[in-house]
Amino acid sequence: MYRGPSQYAVSTQRHGESPESAAPKRGTGVLCVAITPCLQRTLLFSGLTLDAVNRAQRALLSPGGKAVNAARTVRALGGRCHIVGFCGAETGMQLRDLLGRSDIPAELVSMARPTRTCTTLIDDIGGTVTELVEEAPAPTAAEWQAFEARLQALLPHFELVLAAGALPPGVSQETYARLAKLAAQHRAALLLDANGAALTPALSYAPLLVKLNHLELAAMSQAPLKTNEELISTARRLARDGADWVLVTQASAPACLVSKSEAWQFYPPRVRPLNPVGSGDATTGGIAFALLQGQSMLEAVRLGIACGSANATTLTAGEITATRTADLVGEVRLQRHDR
Ligand SMILES: Nc1ncnc2c1ncn2[C@@H]1O[C@H](COP(=O)(O)OP(=O)(O)OP(=O)(O)O)[C@@H](O)[C@H]1O
Ligand SMILES: [Mg+2]
Repeated sequence: MYRGPSQYAVSTQRHGESPESAAPKRGTGVLCVAITPCLQRTLLFSGLTLDAVNRAQRALLSPGGKAVNAARTVRALGGRCHIVGFCGAETGMQLRDLLGRSDIPAELVSMARPTRTCTTLIDDIGGTVTELVEEAPAPTAAEWQAFEARLQALLPHFELVLAAGALPPGVSQETYARLAKLAAQHRAALLLDANGAALTPALSYAPLLVKLNHLELAAMSQAPLKTNEELISTARRLARDGADWVLVTQASAPACLVSKSEAWQFYPPRVRPLNPVGSGDATTGGIAFALLQGQSMLEAVRLGIACGSANATTLTAGEITATRTADLVGEVRLQRHDR
């Protein structure tokens, strides 16, 4: 696997398989950390009016949440992934069932509070996509303990860890820093899609890649980031604070990949978007898949961008196909930025 500037070493130590873990051997898959998974309902309308009765033409139910979307992308590309996270009550059972049917191994710690349901309303006449997001429930101290025990048991088996998403209200903003520290202790590279106070303390544990969108980066810098130069210099601050690479996506506009010394722009392919929600997750999932294949960070981001654009054309997140992505990857234009 690509090691990046941090030179993550492949462990030659043999790790004993714990009896309850069906985790693959190190280096063969990505561990997706899903603290806030959801049941995803997607409703398709031909015309949608607020304050009126609207009848959906189609209703879909899929496993969702950012790390789950990324895992679905890795799986869709033919890669191996394993989810560790939480699920609770009836909706949690449905989530388990849906993941089982998607052939994605998942170790979900049971929690008392129900897994959230998120709903996307797509209006193909108005061309709008409306996202209704429930906040995820905060686990209890005992549930966190059980989760961390599973995480610690799984980490030795993975060379790459992916974590994504806003933390539930009331959960410590040090949560991703703790995860980053554990990943570093196990010499696993971390891809982290987070922002704000949840991201900042994690940077000092040198995540391999941090992924944000331009609005999240602007909110962190408390400035609108009007020019490319401003975007690059703000992203570079996160690299100086510890991230090897920082990827800032901007939907159909060029994404910027920045390290301490390099800056690149990736021009996404032109597509006709249907539901772009979760395209950032598809991007991160595509990057994880490519890194596991031994591709360089530039190649991996190129594939990730193609996955994001492919995802924007589908009804639900993580539903891309390897063929569609392969068609789009050649259309991603890459340009070095000199400053
Ligand atoms: N309308 C679009 N047309 C083409 N590509 C798109 C479009 N929207 C998203 N993408 C692709 O997906 C990538 C990520 O998109 P975006 O910047 O919207 O991520 P995001 O805001 O993190 O999304 P989310 O948080 O919902 O997963 C883009 O870099 C691009 O490759
Ligand atoms: Mg995002």
